[in-house]
Amino acid sequence: MTTLSQRALERRIKRQLKNRDLSYYIPCMPKFEDVLAKELSKLENISDIELEHGGVSFEAPLDTIYHANLNLRTAHRVLLRLGSFLSQSYPMLYDHARKIPWELYLGFNKSFSIKTTSKQSRLKHHDNIAESLAAAINKRLNDLGLEAKEDKNAKTEIYLRLFQDRATISLNSSGEHLHKRAYRQEHAKAAIRETLAASILLKSNIENFDTVLDPMCGSASFLIEAAQIASQEAPGLRREFAFEEMPFFQESKWLRFKREAEAKIIEPSLEIIGSDISKKNIAIARNNIKEAGFQDLISLSVEDARAYRLEKPNLLIVANLPYGKRIMNEAEAKELSESFAKNLKNNFKGSYFSIITANAASFKEKEFKATKTNFSNGGIKVTLIQGLLG
Ligand SMILES: C[S@@+](CC[C@H](N)C(=O)[O-])C[C@H]1O[C@@H](n2cnc3c(N)ncnc32)[C@H](O)[C@@H]1O
Repeated sequence: MTTLSQRALERRIKRQLKNRDLSYYIPCMPKFEDVLAKELSKLENISDIELEHGGVSFEAPLDTIYHANLNLRTAHRVLLRLGSFLSQSYPMLYDHARKIPWELYLGFNKSFSIKTTSKQSRLKHHDNIAESLAAAINKRLNDLGLEAKEDKNAKTEIYLRLFQDRATISLNSSGEHLHKRAYRQEHAKAAIRETLAASILLKSNIENFDTVLDPMCGSASFLIEAAQIASQEAPGLRREFAFEEMPFFQESKWLRFKREAEAKIIEPSLEIIGSDISKKNIAIARNNIKEAGFQDLISLSVEDARAYRLEKPNLLIVANLPYGKRIMNEAEAKELSESFAKNLKNNFKGSYFSIITANAASFKEKEFKATKTNFSNGGIKVTLIQGLLG
């Protein structure tokens, strides 16, 4: 047996991964799939976009790994789908999995980790499923004179999802969850994920507004995402990705794509205002905003959202109200939601609002013409309420 050489691997990568479309799946917040699909449709060479529950699948070339990780604000991870097959027994799983050209994704002496899920399937035992997959990967690699170790801390993650006896195997090109933008230093309690903040801002058509206000801004997630969107700053510019260690990665191309993304950054005309009742949270927000480089664009103050007023034409109000037990008890959270809704109704006529609350009933149907999207945030049932204040 001759060992696969670097040049032979490059030839295989060129033949099998380049100049053709590959299958992708990007998970996102359930109920916000349409927002991700809209973002995706703005990237080049994407076809066959299909919305699934909690994600979007599509076909695209290999370069989309760079572009999707760099540019998508609402994606959780960018997964390359490597194979999907019926898998009712361990030998079936092994036989199909060893036909995947693992050398293209793992290269020389790489370590990998395996994450498994199984629903309504005969194969249930996670350790056994992972063991069969690891054996299949090594069989393929060993036949080429290569090997790779399974290591639960490895940066290259392989996902195996079993559903109704069908196995779907994917490669996580992102690494850590994409809500990690590499700017936030400190979290206020109950901070919203950046990917959800971006989903809500994009779902609210932020580009149509002159001012954005978050009157319960906490650690400033909405404000920083709004600033990034308005400046057209790619969310992935400052972080690292798992694909940077994969055998098909081309550093010169990556640097070029990042330079092109930097050249698209503009001086935004959007006014961005944040406030919070907690002095401590405003201090956290200030640090995070500075870290993200938006200190000249975002203004902050300590205010009580129940009495706060701001007169601005063409204003978008976003907020993630306290819920659960992390900030206040349920009765207090309900009372706050009611007084805040009253303040919006009385003092913000003509503004558009996008509010997450666990107390949707405070926005009475007679008083608020609004659309309601129910979803689960960190295991808590909440509602996104959106509408124009009349
Ligand atoms: C769920 S957190 C918001 C988290 C924020 N979106 C973030 O990502 O960090 C709710 C925020 O509301 C603030 N808050 C509670 N009562 C308030 C009030 N009456 N007026 C203004 N802010 C208030 C809390 O201090 C907290 O920062």
